[in-house]
Amino acid sequence: MEKNLPHGDTEWFVNDRFGMFIHWGLYSMGARHEWLMNKENIPVAEYERRYFQRFDPDLYNPEAWARAAADAGMKYFVVTTKHHEGFCLWDSKLTDYKAPNTPAKRDLLRPLVEAFRGQGLKTGFYYSLIDWHHPHFVIDNRIGPYRGCTEKERAKMNQGRVQARYAEYMRGQVRELLTGFGQVDVLWFDFSYPDKEHPNDFTKGKNRNAWQSKKLYQMVRELQPSVVVDDRLDLPGAWDVKTPEQWQPREWYTVEGQRVVWEACQTLSGSWGYHRDEDSWRSTDELIRTLIDCVSKGGNLLLNVGPTGRGEFDARALDRLSGIGEWMKRHNRAIYGCTAAPHEFKTPEHCRLTWNPGTKRLYVHLFAWPYGALHIDGLKDRVEYAQLLNDSSELQYGLGEWQHQIGDRLGNSTLTLRLPARKPDVAVPVIELFLK
Ligand code: GLC
Repeated sequence: MEKNLPHGDTEWFVNDRFGMFIHWGLYSMGARHEWLMNKENIPVAEYERRYFQRFDPDLYNPEAWARAAADAGMKYFVVTTKHHEGFCLWDSKLTDYKAPNTPAKRDLLRPLVEAFRGQGLKTGFYYSLIDWHHPHFVIDNRIGPYRGCTEKERAKMNQGRVQARYAEYMRGQVRELLTGFGQVDVLWFDFSYPDKEHPNDFTKGKNRNAWQSKKLYQMVRELQPSVVVDDRLDLPGAWDVKTPEQWQPREWYTVEGQRVVWEACQTLSGSWGYHRDEDSWRSTDELIRTLIDCVSKGGNLLLNVGPTGRGEFDARALDRLSGIGEWMKRHNRAIYGCTAAPHEFKTPEHCRLTWNPGTKRLYVHLFAWPYGALHIDGLKDRVEYAQLLNDSSELQYGLGEWQHQIGDRLGNSTLTLRLPARKPDVAVPVIELFLK
């Protein structure tokens, strides 16, 4: 464990809670998963011929993307400046494999950063450690390109490849990203897959030695001391945020018994890059519940959109984003600045609790609408006022006359809120409790 490594500023991060992930690159044209180069063993030259030479996002309107994100209530974004395929959205001086050399003929990252900043969102860069295009990235049998090839073929392709030169290239590119675009708030490296038995054989896996993670991390801290860095450099202690991907932690994420800053990253459907034919799309309600679930466990949600090769968010994504925005418009104060509730408040069945320690307000998110009343243990005599958040309609509390019959089944500390028969017409109703 590396001790005393410097860390970034996560204060804004744990306040803002909700960000947009954007996976956009040549794979958007394949429209069948951002790993298609690897999954289908497409050789570099063939991949270039098909996609690099034709990438022409003529409908790209970063202002529209930024508005969609802001309207959904997102406060920061993280965009794939380079994904595993190696293609760069910005005008990197260190490679020709970049947007300005496609039919797009321009830097696509800069206008995006400007547009999102214009909407008040903080800036995050995803940068892939893995690179299936770079001539010095040592090809391995795990994640590398040409995964179908034999040992012999691989050895041949690896002749002349020097992983250290690739590590140097990465430092150069990350330097460009951290010096050419103003303040960067999040840096999202992706990802390591160490082989414990062969830590220096990069044909078997890639670890901190393959990336020269320590050097890289030190440079990042020199250039942008406060940037929030994710946890995928394989360098213990060199991270600010844990990043569970495609799963939801059951409780606040801990490391060595300590609660840590964490952010779940989730997709709207199964793929990160634009996928035309996939129909495992999550519903708006499910996505809203996912955001609430994160915050109720002290975490953030980074929700992904995969724009099309022509540069648009497709209708399914826009539908989810606007639905989330509808909910956020009325309920965002149960998200921003909120965290897990103190233990003494017991979460009722089918609910999540979020808590704003600054305002001392407790939010009860109801995933299922209860029958007439909601009982919450630990809250009796603690509440000053209760209302539904969507329309600020008062909720009365305490037991009705006839309910006293069941009073003995309620704990001494149980608060009973009386609810209308009909569920409010919002995806997830929220009760706002003003505590004494
Ligand atoms: C992964 C995948 C990837 C995606 C990322 C997002 O590790 O390789 O395609 O970009 O996770 O978390």
